[in-house]
Amino acid sequence: MIGIFDSGYGGLSVLRQIRNLMPEYDYLYLGDNARAPYGSRSFDVVYEYTLQAVEALFARGCQLVILACNTASAKALRSIQQNDLGRLGAERRVLGVIRPTVEAIGELTQTRHVGILATQGTVSSRSYEMELAKLYPDVVVTAQACPMWVPLVEYCEFDSPGADYFVKKRIDAVLRTDPQIDTLVLACTHYPLLMSKILRYTPPGVRIVPQGELIAASLKDYLRRHPEMDERLEKNGKAQFLTTEDPQKFYDSATIFIPHTNVSVQRIQL
Ligand code: DGL
Repeated sequence: MIGIFDSGYGGLSVLRQIRNLMPEYDYLYLGDNARAPYGSRSFDVVYEYTLQAVEALFARGCQLVILACNTASAKALRSIQQNDLGRLGAERRVLGVIRPTVEAIGELTQTRHVGILATQGTVSSRSYEMELAKLYPDVVVTAQACPMWVPLVEYCEFDSPGADYFVKKRIDAVLRTDPQIDTLVLACTHYPLLMSKILRYTPPGVRIVPQGELIAASLKDYLRRHPEMDERLEKNGKAQFLTTEDPQKFYDSATIFIPHTNVSVQRIQL
């Protein structure tokens, strides 16, 4: 199976795009809803939680785990790859979402001014700035933390009138900091759920880039380049779901993120 991990529901926006592109594979999704959000947690804590999640997915047969969470990708991916993967099974892989997003950004911006909307954890890690500097050193990056956006999604308030205030506030702030921005990256997998409000407060001429499709395309390309991994993945078109919180609560929210999907949920402890 392909494991998809997020602190909560956000990774479902990535799973949805991955399944659209590659419906034949089997997926096991894990949301650490009991401990979400991760965005304001320290490096050590995000690393510890993410490692536990990866171990749980490996233990249930996943060969490949996607950290469909920017905060976990920023704070834990490299440490897991360097410190833990050997012990956990050298032939297994853990991939993140930052690198594939950055690879796409350079092709999207005309003005070469890009805004990154993300959690405080991702912004403080400066991961996007570092990756962009490697691939596209001419791109000017402004990162903006959007602290209330994940709770709005986790608590199903993304459509409520109250959400408008927080969405407008952060978009205004990033565009005030750099008015030349023509590309705003939703560098948190929860944010696509706020899309209608994000579009409402973004001026014309500024492109909004969600990550799901970019991650899906990058995963497909990865599997094409790594047939030895592709062969080990089961292909029955199934998706199963794990949560560290109440399964009924997960079911109710998951069906909003991924409508028309048969969601069977089990609770686990990490
Ligand atoms: N969805 C996660 C991300 O992409 C983070 C949400 C959280 O703060 O837990 O960064």
